[in-house]
Amino acid sequence: MRSPDYDGIYRCHAQLGWMNLGYTEHERLFEDTNNVEVYMRNLATRLHQAAGLGAEHVAVDVGCGYGNQDIHFAELSPGVQIHAVNISPLQIEVAKKNLDAQPEAIQQSIQYYVGDAVNLPFDEGFADRVLSLESAFHYVTREAFFAEAFRVLKPGGRLTIADVVVGVPQSQEFMWWRRRGWPLVWWIGERCQFDRKSDQFPAENQYDLDAYVGKLQATGFVNVEAEDISDRIVLYPNERWANLAGWKAMVPRPWIPKSSQLGYIIHLLSSLKSRYVMVTAEKPA
Ligand SMILES: C[S@@+](CC[C@H](N)C(=O)[O-])C[C@H]1O[C@@H](n2cnc3c(N)ncnc32)[C@H](O)[C@@H]1O
Repeated sequence: MRSPDYDGIYRCHAQLGWMNLGYTEHERLFEDTNNVEVYMRNLATRLHQAAGLGAEHVAVDVGCGYGNQDIHFAELSPGVQIHAVNISPLQIEVAKKNLDAQPEAIQQSIQYYVGDAVNLPFDEGFADRVLSLESAFHYVTREAFFAEAFRVLKPGGRLTIADVVVGVPQSQEFMWWRRRGWPLVWWIGERCQFDRKSDQFPAENQYDLDAYVGKLQATGFVNVEAEDISDRIVLYPNERWANLAGWKAMVPRPWIPKSSQLGYIIHLLSSLKSRYVMVTAEKPA
């Protein structure tokens, strides 16, 4: 089984504490602010709303990154119990340090664990809510995570995922680009460690939204709802591309090394058909 180096891939985000792409309800960027952190917080708020996370809930947050989102959830729902899991020991270490600086009530609300989304360290029926913010496309496999979330949820509990769906298998698309004379794109992608990045979208997770919903239903989930929120997501490097692909333009992210930004753009060139979705599903009561 592949195991991308998530410690390394996301190290440049450590200072920020957030790693999602960002979300806005505004039609044009910068009407709100040019502080990307605000957009990232917005996306966590959007997930929190979709999850209907309440003070009375026990929640498992899978792929919690550096953990700012958990502090945010705990502020939005004082008293909630959050058990946050990430595969990266480095990210969990930073999250624990940041949590130590929080007020006592927030500290009491959150526990961090190093763990894998497909093998969660919780008993069956442990949680009212399972959340995953922009991480499930990484899991090997996302389908195995669906089964884990189902196991860990109480009957009547809800799974909420903000996720990227890649509609067309990337390798085939890359062959298409290459056949049409894009060896330069390929070469630059290699130079920018595109391989490592493409590992982030395992082939097993590359299916469209209908298949996604079908897999959740096959796992046993009911009331599965999937909303395409791509036109609210802050992603593309300029407005023209953003309009073309139906996403928002990107806010400058100076903390990402230039080489990674280039790799990121090339990565996007290969996946114009990807969409950003907010998915909710319930375990039958
Ligand atoms: C794009 S980041 C999002 C992090 C965080 N949710 C945020 O929005 O800031 C993806 C996260 O998924 C984590 N991850 C990848 N594979 C995982 C797995 N199998 N189990 C748990 N976490 C995983 C990575 O370490 C990384 O923190």
